[in-house]
Amino acid sequence: MSHLPFLEESGAFAVDRPETISYLYFPLASDTDMKSAVTPTFGGDAKLDQETFLLEPVSAENLHDNRASRNFWLRCGGEIWSCTGVSAAQEAQRFTPDQEDSRLQAGLMWQTVERTARPLGITARVTLFCPLSDNLEIMLVTVRNTGARPLTATPFAAVPLYGRSADNIRDHRNVTSLLHRIRCTGHGVVVQPTMSFDERGHRPNHTQYYVLGAGPDGQAPVGFYPTVESFLGEGGTYLRPRAVAEDCPGVPAGSTAAGREAMGAFRFPELTLAPGAEVTYTVLLGVARTPEELDRVWQRYGSAEQARAALAETRAAWQRRVNVSFHTGDAAFDHLMRWVCFQPFLRRLFGCSFLPHHDYGRGGRGWRDLWQDCLSLLLMDPGGVGRMIEQNFGGVRIDGTNATIIGAGDGNFIADRNGIARVWMDHALWPQMTTRLYIDQTGDVEILDRQAPYFKDAQALRGTALDPDYRPEQGGWQRDAAGQVYSGTVLEHLLIEQLAAFYEVGDHNMYRLRGADWNDALDMAAEHGESVAFTCAYAGNLRELAGMIRLLGRRTGARTAPVLAELAVLLDTDPARWDDAAAKRQLLARYAEQCRHTVSGQRIELPLDELANALDSRADWLMDWLRRHAWIDGPAAGEGWYNSYYDDHGRAVEGVFPTGVRMMLTGQVFAIMGGVATDEQIRRITASADHYLYRPEAGGYRLNTDFHELKFDLGRMFGFAYGEKENGAVFSHMAVMYANALYRRGFAHAGWKALKALADTALDFDTSRIYPGIPEYFRADGRGMYHYLTGAASWYMMTMITQVFGVRGQEGDLLLAPALLAEQFDADGSAELALTFAGRPLCVRYENPALLDVGQYRLAAASLDGAPLPVDGGVSVRISRAVLDALDADTTHRITVTLRAAQ
Ligand code: G1P
Repeated sequence: MSHLPFLEESGAFAVDRPETISYLYFPLASDTDMKSAVTPTFGGDAKLDQETFLLEPVSAENLHDNRASRNFWLRCGGEIWSCTGVSAAQEAQRFTPDQEDSRLQAGLMWQTVERTARPLGITARVTLFCPLSDNLEIMLVTVRNTGARPLTATPFAAVPLYGRSADNIRDHRNVTSLLHRIRCTGHGVVVQPTMSFDERGHRPNHTQYYVLGAGPDGQAPVGFYPTVESFLGEGGTYLRPRAVAEDCPGVPAGSTAAGREAMGAFRFPELTLAPGAEVTYTVLLGVARTPEELDRVWQRYGSAEQARAALAETRAAWQRRVNVSFHTGDAAFDHLMRWVCFQPFLRRLFGCSFLPHHDYGRGGRGWRDLWQDCLSLLLMDPGGVGRMIEQNFGGVRIDGTNATIIGAGDGNFIADRNGIARVWMDHALWPQMTTRLYIDQTGDVEILDRQAPYFKDAQALRGTALDPDYRPEQGGWQRDAAGQVYSGTVLEHLLIEQLAAFYEVGDHNMYRLRGADWNDALDMAAEHGESVAFTCAYAGNLRELAGMIRLLGRRTGARTAPVLAELAVLLDTDPARWDDAAAKRQLLARYAEQCRHTVSGQRIELPLDELANALDSRADWLMDWLRRHAWIDGPAAGEGWYNSYYDDHGRAVEGVFPTGVRMMLTGQVFAIMGGVATDEQIRRITASADHYLYRPEAGGYRLNTDFHELKFDLGRMFGFAYGEKENGAVFSHMAVMYANALYRRGFAHAGWKALKALADTALDFDTSRIYPGIPEYFRADGRGMYHYLTGAASWYMMTMITQVFGVRGQEGDLLLAPALLAEQFDADGSAELALTFAGRPLCVRYENPALLDVGQYRLAAASLDGAPLPVDGGVSVRISRAVLDALDADTTHRITVTLRAAQ
């Protein structure tokens, strides 16, 4: 196994000859809207949103031939050479290393590739980044004479300007180019389409797309090629544009063109460099919504000094923002963790769209992803999260289902991306998990008392019927009988979500699968499918919600909570009825019917202890039901696991079948996490997972075994080749949740095995072929897929911090309860985690001089800034919020915990 070399800047890495590896792409983004993907040869694309693509949108398969890239040419004598490596000659010589050297370096939000043409004696260093606060990319190109003689060359910047909606790739590509109005300013090319083309209603367009450039000392271009045709020439290509090859003079500043594909191409005056000398060109490519913005951007970044200052600022800002760092016995792992902690930022910026593998969706974020991204925010920057959580609860419908897409800005909910009424049965789970972490990290249990409205649209009865009285003019919020927008507490939202789910069961009295659960690809069992996996998860939620309610009572002194009167139906206290699936469904229907159009608006006060007991008794009942009905004994002694699903024929999908063992990871994860599996069962589950699902060379634990069947009665996943995506790949998110569940239940070795296999494979560049980070999944041959945008990153980070290092909030206090293995300490026996908690920068250091393993050590002593701290029974240290609040917020406080042999 070999990992990429890491550089001095935290997380930064290098790749030699990166263009010899396929599918590599790197994300860059601004705090505004710019979102870019860049390949080692500066292909990829750049956009603000679905409608506003600066560069032509690309999918992963376009990366092989993405030559209409960001380019910068040099014409030297009769030869032409591309500083980004994209020319016919360079492509032909790609596998002949004696001609050309290249080395990519990249760190958080910047990429540099240095390329040397040995025969020409030129080295070009090209850096690309997005400055923080404007919608552009900056490309800095430094050309150095590495030969022995003076170098004379003519430079050309060349970036095709797509300038329109991604939809127009296959919908009127030519017609939309007719809208282009192109002009050559003194410093580059600007295209402003006359209208946003949309046959449902064309709109005037004011957005301008530009490529501007300056040479040394503010030198301006001397000739322009504003259209693709004028740059490539008749019969020319992006690998050998005739404007460069034939030294065409181009048109002067002030020229215009119309109705053609636009090209941000221009030439600079010839340059002469003495041996060892270098010059820098600055190229700005971006999108401006107003003419003033275009001017401002040019004034702000238009010189190499300004661009370099913006680069330094961008790098520093991202290092600062990713305010978590690890020190373990494995330096490569620590670097990897920088990327894992950075990935949640990328997911917030990109959503689940807009990188080459993520060529679906139109922006916006999915419900599940929204809540899980909050997890990492809570660990890195919890400031505004409380408010965000409250707003997100406004996406819940009164029947416990929810809007599935969140548009731009918080609180902007959309029922479904494709206008299909679908209910994902896992959706009600995540808000509570996030709220729970929020309460633990901040101590703000009063959030349960805060108010939020409910989302309203035409969907009723949990997506099974329409509300005939609903009109879009009534707006997107639930109203009461008097026509007022109804709002309820966050606690009420949670109760409705958890209780409604409890009653929506299938024939085996497990929660119905509906449109799908976490696994989006289980989408063909809406009638009779049941997700045992998420029934387990919800059982855990019921138990935890009971705990949150008791905490609320303890903390606030309240004895009752107000809830919507209709909710009383869902609080029936007759466990005998719970055995009867049909009776449960009827009860749910009664509730949902009452709320089909409006709610009464009446509230009843419910005693908190009764509420908590009602949830606990449901959890008890459910766990017992699951243990009795879902456990499967494995074929070998010591093996066994939980059946995760029933298919649309009502059959259990796992067990020993004529085609072999069928086992899925999801059911195990939530049986363990939800507290359904007993310790003995966990031992049998891990033995089975190791036997049937584990493959360390390619990421670790697969999502499922090979069913050797298409299973049209369960989901599209069975149509995928085995080992790909949701069908048996090592799907990072589930593998990390498996680890998390194991840690929570005290199985640290098994948990680390899952985390380590993911990290080892991600870092093994020869196998994963991705830059450092956690991909969505590892496919059958171990290649990392759908890199960067994955909920796995939030969970990985959360598991490392709160479980492995055991640094976690408990009702607002800080608890330290490590589960580090001996191998995770460095040679001196220490392991460190730097993070911010309660707004205080902390460095938590565990000292384990005897290099003991988890289970062998106890916490012997602890100190905060040198002052001793009490240790609780040798297993944990708890530092109260008051103590933390009294610490100064501007300096890092050192917490040291010494581990010694347990007696
Ligand atoms: C993606 C989706 C996530 C879904 C999962 C499995 O996972 O974003 O909502 O649950 O596929 O179908 P991710 O890429 O976030 O790991």
